[in-house]
Amino acid sequence: MKPIILDVDTGIDDALAISYAVNSPELELLGLTTCFGNVTVEEATRNTLLVLEHLDSAVPVIPGATKPLFVSRVKANATHIHGEDGIGNTLTNLPTRKALSQYAPQFIIDQVRSKPHQVTIITVAAMTNLALAIMQAPDIVNLVDNVIVMGGAVKRAGNVTPHAEANIYADPEAADYVFASGIPITLVGLDVTMETLLPKKDVQAWRSKGTELGTLMADMTEFYIDAYEDFYPGIGGCGLHDPLAVGVAICPDFVTTEPLYVRVDLDGFHSLGRTIGDLRSKPAHEPNMQVCLKVDTERFLEHFLSRVV
Ligand code: RIB
Ligand code: CA
Repeated sequence: MKPIILDVDTGIDDALAISYAVNSPELELLGLTTCFGNVTVEEATRNTLLVLEHLDSAVPVIPGATKPLFVSRVKANATHIHGEDGIGNTLTNLPTRKALSQYAPQFIIDQVRSKPHQVTIITVAAMTNLALAIMQAPDIVNLVDNVIVMGGAVKRAGNVTPHAEANIYADPEAADYVFASGIPITLVGLDVTMETLLPKKDVQAWRSKGTELGTLMADMTEFYIDAYEDFYPGIGGCGLHDPLAVGVAICPDFVTTEPLYVRVDLDGFHSLGRTIGDLRSKPAHEPNMQVCLKVDTERFLEHFLSRVV
């Protein structure tokens, strides 16, 4: 089993990623750390606990950053995509379990140090928690097994601005700090996640199971698909951004990667948060990450659907 920390801003696709991860025997979930992003960190923590309750999972939840590292330039929330509560307006009750009283960056440091060269960190939110962890404990850069980042768009348009993807845009300084740190990274960006569209018919199959989990996931995901349809008329489904990052942890060969040097634009008026890959034939720097540029959509979707609900 691969020891995993999953860093979330739950969020509908985060909820799907959590379910997929909990139901995957290849992964040992050490904890779910939470961050601001789709909703506030308090809401993300609540939503994470609720999803875990529906899955009968006792995985610890550890709250993290409430705001970006240095500059709060934008109001980072996505209620138009994820609903007022972040989970498609399905909220009816509060979780019975509480989050740990630890702080997410410290949890990351402790787990990585206690299992050297074993832990994979999957970030599917702003990268603030991981950046804070590295600032406090730079040794973890050489102690993690890998960091799988859902974020960015290297050869594709952004989703919150023409160039920027939401998780990077929510805290560009944090993302760039992590990218420059030397930590091993696999970037699962919009280049591949926008190729993983989930249509409504698959969601209806969850509803027809008649289970509480199936109904909750179907309610949330239909909201998400409708939001996608408003945003991208005719698209016919929602992008499985965060689930694909989990999928890559389970089966790295769902994707084809290219080693590239990638940094984040921190100055651009029109391109703040853009992930810029050095695509020249003779780049000025050694690659700092593996960038996913192709995905076997059919195989990933089949695997995801066989486990998520
Ligand atoms: O751009 C997609 C990402 O932004 C996903 O992590 C989604 O949950 C949102 O936060
Ligand atoms: Ca997310």
